[in-house]
Amino acid sequence: MAEAQKTSLWGGRFTGGPADALARLSVSVQFDWRLAPYDLAASRAHARVLAAAGLLDPEELGKMLAALDDLEAACASGEFRPTVEDEDVHTALERGLIERLGTLGGKLRAGRSRNDQVATDLRLYLRDHARGLAVALLELADALTEQAAATIDTPAPGMTHVQHAQPVTFGHWLLAHVHPLLRDLERLKDWDARAAISPLGSGALAGSSLPLDPAAVAKELGFAAPAANSMDAVADRDFVAEFLFFTALVGVHLSRLGEEVVLWTSQEFGWVELDDAFATGSSIMPQKKNADIAELARGKSGRLIGGLVAVLTMLKGLPLTYDRDMQEDKEPAFDAIDTLQLLLPALAGMISTMTVRTDRLAAAAPVGYSLATEVADWLVRRNVPFREAHEITGKLVALCSSRGCELDEVTDDDLKTVSEHLDPTVRQVLSVDSALAARTTPGSTGPGPVAEQLAMVQHRLDTWRLWAIEQVVPR
Ligand code: ARG
Repeated sequence: MAEAQKTSLWGGRFTGGPADALARLSVSVQFDWRLAPYDLAASRAHARVLAAAGLLDPEELGKMLAALDDLEAACASGEFRPTVEDEDVHTALERGLIERLGTLGGKLRAGRSRNDQVATDLRLYLRDHARGLAVALLELADALTEQAAATIDTPAPGMTHVQHAQPVTFGHWLLAHVHPLLRDLERLKDWDARAAISPLGSGALAGSSLPLDPAAVAKELGFAAPAANSMDAVADRDFVAEFLFFTALVGVHLSRLGEEVVLWTSQEFGWVELDDAFATGSSIMPQKKNADIAELARGKSGRLIGGLVAVLTMLKGLPLTYDRDMQEDKEPAFDAIDTLQLLLPALAGMISTMTVRTDRLAAAAPVGYSLATEVADWLVRRNVPFREAHEITGKLVALCSSRGCELDEVTDDDLKTVSEHLDPTVRQVLSVDSALAARTTPGSTGPGPVAEQLAMVQHRLDTWRLWAIEQVVPR
């Protein structure tokens, strides 16, 4: 392990290098290397602050910044790579700096620790990638909204307990999958405001005896403010846990959408047909067309929830301040981002290219006595207490069910036999179109409210588009 000592940031008081087993357990550079651009941005800000404090002269600052730029280019091109001897991204980049600057490279670490560095890097990384996730979420929300616009007056059998309940429009149903995504975007923006705190300047845990300027660093890195407590700054991973709650809940939303697509595309429902490009076949059954994207959405929610549970569990018993356990915060966060960045475009493509079988949906809308509530409401409008109206309608359903006929297929005499309150004019409410048209209150499934809702959703999506392209981390 002689090599390990050469690049290590902490060899001074040790007589020998780390055991191989320790080095292998401890190394994180294979996953934290993706923090490199953020670590370099933080290093630039730190170098400027050291210079302002008189700890680097102007010439040294110039050389330092040039070397950091050169190192960034070398990282981007792949010319500079971490090696197995580099414990983590910070170690690797310090090696790169020293390769370029010699002893001057060793000055940058003054007043800074990997504890405040890694917390800073991860905040920068997550805030930056949050925008990318917002873009991907918007793509899916757009696909759903466009399909909703196309099916704004397509009747469908709205369900509770997967049983036909009341007619709705399919557009209303699809928009019901957009609202959770809008809330996810809102949640992300709220999270972002809390994540916009800069830990840099907190050092290992106690701040620094050097005249640093945490506010200047915070500003340069696009943070709203420096941390108010150096111990909290290096111990806090709420921003990771909260981010993972966001990704877990997105996972749950995508899973519920996925489950519906699985149902809709089944032989039994037959409401939706997937485009060939977004469906898969079977290796043995030539006729099969499977909704694998929808199933993967359902399945991947497991790992997204798992990431949140892993980080909360890792954090729960940790004494302040930094503990090495916290290195376990990164892989779940990175995996959640990678997972959603794979899943969301596939779902967006699947939704935007699917064909909605409007004929089958409309035919299914009144099936299963889904207009029974219309009869009860008709009675209520005639002053029958709802409790009684419910009872009368139940009897009518039972009669129809025993005869195998629909609600509007019984005779005038039958109506009278079921209840003195029923008469043939009740048939006016026994159509899907009249049931939908009767729903005029805001938020309901009637054509008017759904049109208003659609316009509102489109407007809100446009607002989010502006947020998603905001640049948070200055380059
Ligand atoms: N790789 C470490 C992590 O991700 C960096 C911080 C190391 N700090 C320390 N005191 N060992 O948490």
